[in-house]
Parts: sequence; C-alpha cells; structure tokens
Amino acid sequence: MCGIAGYIGEKQALPFLISGLKKLEYRGYDSAGIAIYNEGRIEVRRQVGKIAELERSIRGQVIEGTQGIAHTRWATHGMPSNRNSHPHRDSDGHIAVVHNGIIENYLELRNELEDKGYTFTSETDTEVVPNLIAEYFEGNLLEAVEKAKARLRGSYAAVCMSQQDPDYLVGIRQDSPLIVGYGKDGNYFASDIPALIGHVDRYTVLKNGETAVIDRDGVTIYVDGKAVEPEVMELTMDIDAAEKGGYDHFMLKEIIEQPRALKECLSGRIAYGKRVIDLGELKLDAAKAEKINKIVMVACGTAYHACYVGRYVYEKLLRIPVEVEIASEFRYRDPILDEHTLTIVVSQSGETADTLAALAEAKRKGSHILAITNVWESSIAREAHDVIYTRAGIEIAVASTKAYTTQILAIYLFGLYMAELKGKMIRREIQTIINELYRLPEKVQQIIDDNLDIIKEMADEIAEFEDAFFIGRDLDYVVAREGALKLKEISYIHAEAYAAGELKHGTLALIVDRVPVICLCTQRNLEEKMVSNIKEAQTRNGQIFSICFEGDTLVPAVSEHVCYLPKTLDLLAPILTVIPLQLIAYYASVKRGADVDKPRNLAKSVTVE
Ligand code: F6R
Repeated sequence: MCGIAGYIGEKQALPFLISGLKKLEYRGYDSAGIAIYNEGRIEVRRQVGKIAELERSIRGQVIEGTQGIAHTRWATHGMPSNRNSHPHRDSDGHIAVVHNGIIENYLELRNELEDKGYTFTSETDTEVVPNLIAEYFEGNLLEAVEKAKARLRGSYAAVCMSQQDPDYLVGIRQDSPLIVGYGKDGNYFASDIPALIGHVDRYTVLKNGETAVIDRDGVTIYVDGKAVEPEVMELTMDIDAAEKGGYDHFMLKEIIEQPRALKECLSGRIAYGKRVIDLGELKLDAAKAEKINKIVMVACGTAYHACYVGRYVYEKLLRIPVEVEIASEFRYRDPILDEHTLTIVVSQSGETADTLAALAEAKRKGSHILAITNVWESSIAREAHDVIYTRAGIEIAVASTKAYTTQILAIYLFGLYMAELKGKMIRREIQTIINELYRLPEKVQQIIDDNLDIIKEMADEIAEFEDAFFIGRDLDYVVAREGALKLKEISYIHAEAYAAGELKHGTLALIVDRVPVICLCTQRNLEEKMVSNIKEAQTRNGQIFSICFEGDTLVPAVSEHVCYLPKTLDLLAPILTVIPLQLIAYYASVKRGADVDKPRNLAKSVTVE
C-alpha cells in the first residue's frame, strides 16, 4: 500500500528510483513521482497512472543528481491526480517528502499551518508533513523531522529531504514498513525487499518510532534522539525472486511456484524424535496448550479464507471451538477472549493494518498470539508471541496464491502439533496425515501439468459471463469462497460463493441463462448431497463446472465441464482444489484483457485501516 524508495550515494539516483518503484508497484499504482536533489535544487516530477506513465513523461529529460526519493501511490486522501501524487513539498518547495500510511490528525495540523500562512495544493493528508517540517526547520533537517514526528498521529513510513540541509535523507516509521539498505555505492530506503535486491547485501527493518538517517558514508538509526545499534540482516535473495522469470505475469509464476513453496513450508518441520511436528521454539508448550479452550482466527481477504479452512480442520482434529473473524470487525466488537484463548493471526505481508490492530486487541485481553506470516521480521511477526513462517517466497501479484496454500499448510502443521500436545490424536493418525502432506507438492504439480487445457477451456467459457457462482459443502465451501474472491478481484466478474445447501434459500433465483456454477466436490461423505445441489442448479439452466477427484463418476454425470484432481485425504483437499480455481481466475482475467497483476482499485499489503 504505497511504495517508497530512496537513494543517496555515488551513482545517479534516477535509475534506482524508477527500478525500485517498479518492484514496489504491487503496493499501489494510481500515480507515481520522484524528487531528485542536485546543486541546491530539488527537481520533482509526478504523474498520475502507473510507473510506465511517469517514465514516459520524463523521457528525454535530464534529471541529474545522486540523491532522491520516489513514491508509487494507492490513493486514500484525494483522488489519483498529478497534484495529489507524491513527493509533496512544503509551501516554499525546499523540503520534499514521500509517505505511506494515513496521518489521522492532518486536518487539525493543516488548519494550524494554514493559519500560519502555509499554502496547500493537494487534498492529501501527506502534504502537512513537509509543511510541519518546514515550520520546525532551523537549518537542521533531522531536528525538524524529529519535532514534526512528535506531532503526527496515525500510521506512516516517510522519507524526507531538504535542499537547505542536503547530503542526507531522513526516514521515519510508525506502523508502516520501511527498510534501510546498505549498498556498496550508496545507501537506500525501500518499503519492501524486492526494491533492494541486486543493490544491497545487508538491510535493517526500521522499528516503530525509529528514525534513520542515510548519507553517502553510512546509516545511523535513532531512538528518542539517541543513536542505537541496528539489527542488520543479510539479503540473500537473488534477483529472480523479484522478476517474472519468463512468465507473462507474477500471478502465473506464483501459481506455478506452489509445489516448491509447499516443500519449503514443510521442510524440517517433521521430526521423528519425541514429537512428530517440529515448529521450532514455540512458547505455546504442552502446559499452555492444555489450558487453551477456544481458538480465534483473525485475518483479511485471502488470509481470512485460509483461517476458515483452519476452523473446519481444528474443530475436526482438536474438538475445540474455533471462531473466525474479519480483522477490521474484530477489534471494534469487544471480542470475548482471555488467557485460555489462542488467537491465530494470518497475514502474508505481516503488515496489514487491520490484522495488526486485531492482534494488539487480542494481546491486550491476555490471549496467546500465534502469527502465521510470510514476511520475516514483519510487524505482525514481531508483535506475536509465536510465529510460524510460511516460507512461500516473495509474493508480488496483488492476488494472493502461493501465500494462501502455504498458510493452509502451516495451519495443518499447527493443528497436528496441537493435537499431539493435547493428546487428541495418536501418532499413527498423525503419521497418516503427514505422509499425505508430503505428497501434496507433487499432486499440485500434477494438476498444473495435466489439467491446463481443461482449466483454460473452463476459464474461456466463464470469461463470457458477468456473474459466476461457486458452491461446495464443508471444506469445499470454504475454498469456494476463495475461488470467488480470486475471480472477482482480477477478472471483475461478479462472483459469489455459497454453501451448496443454501442455494435453495434464495440464490437459486439467480441461476438462469447458463450462468456458470463452479462446484467443488471433494468431501466424499457429502458427495450425494452435492450431486443433488448440482442438479438443482442444472435444472434451472445453470452451466455446471465441477472439480472432483479422479475416479469419481457421480459428479461428472451431472456436469458439463470437469477438472479431475489427484486423490488425497478429504481433510487436505483445499490445497488441491484451490489450484484450478486460481488458474481459472488467471485465464479468465487474461481473456478479458484485465491487468492481472495490478487489478483496478487494489494494492497489496494494506497498511491503512
Ligand atoms: C487477495 C489478497 C488480499 C489479502 C489481504 C490480506 O488476493 O491478496 O485479500 O489476502 O489483503 O493481506 P495479508 O495476507 O498481507 O494480511
């Protein structure tokens, strides 16, 4: 949600600023801009639209300078336009700022600054920041930023520079991510790692409240005005992780990467010693687990759908009540939890503001917090008592795919771990599930290798319609919800998911004129019930697309299009069922000419509430 890049060093700043922004474009793509300092002047260029538009608008211009800041925006305050684009400057134009987040008290600050004669040219909350810094500026940018920071309320990651006190950049962070990179020929700021790959070999993730100063010689991190020793990490990812690697879209690359991601997620987590599941040093030991009498799972979007799988799985395996909550609702509902409740927060980015706030609320109420996240040292990982990393690798497409399947895998692993700790399952039962977990990566691969033709055919047909319905029962219903989200977010087809038995209570009225009904049928004990529900839809002239296991004959007999999955345990089916759904959404989006990786109005990593 908004991407920030900054550089100061020996090289020209422009190439990194543009390439860095492109790597961060998944965070927002409504408008983009750069500010480069050279010989006493800050040059600013801003352009509504994607980064390619900014590039086009500056083509042929000489914008020299070895320090600069840049931004790609996901609009919150003020519609996408040139004047609302970042960087923003103070009224006199000597301080430039890029910002990710929301300054909640911006109206109050704006009124105060306007009374003092500052003028504003945008509708953004951000523009108060350079003006506030200017108000406190007495020749030292760092001091002015620190004073301004003390007045800001809300969430921010911001990088600032001044033409009156040049030669360094100042970055601040509160609840929005900001990373400092240490390079050989300069130092860097970025919202996320992909921008830094290939430029730096070490980095520091700024913590809330910290201020970072980068200049040509080094980096200094301050807490309350005092320099502190930063935690420096090695950047080991190679450039391929942040490139499309020959695929047309990141989403397709990330779908195809799932067998590898699942193997990574499993790796080293099955032991054969005292316990079968090894999740590292979890603080939730047997004594604590014994007292847990309720699990609450909280997340947003696709991660929320992964939680739903968790609910069905944990209730089956652990016989503990599980509640699943949308993070943005959870914290304002005064949820009932205590030290006997385990709260599991799931987040790919580890930075989603609503999920982070829900975590804080659950922690305040004494609940033990387990985070399942993909991003090392993310805010959610830091705030939780325990973390299971999904190890999916960088996910860049806005539509989440490999993060979802690895979240579900982590959810299974933790369920088995708890079942073992609480003595709910015997070792042989656990072992049966584990044996099958190990086979999932190759089964996902098999779906991708063997079913692309039928999946593309299904997608081509579905792409002709403006509505689609997804139905299923039990775990199939839960995955149907994710299938519907995937389809609507990237192809813009209106898609809804229903528990198959619920159709006849209202929605059946919409099943007419060959509208696509995508039926998930992997829960063997419910197959006959599913077949009846499919018949109900077919009788109303719905067009039936089914996903079922190889060898199934009942479901194909009532379907027009069938995608067969390799067999697995019903409990583990979600990891397989979702693969054709991801691919259907992908190919439908391509067929409709939509921008697959950057769907309209969306952005990845939603760091505002
Ligand atoms: C949809 C999607 C979003 C995210 C949601 C939570 O494809 O990616 O719905 O799942 O914004 O994001 P994280 O998992 O980063 O907390």
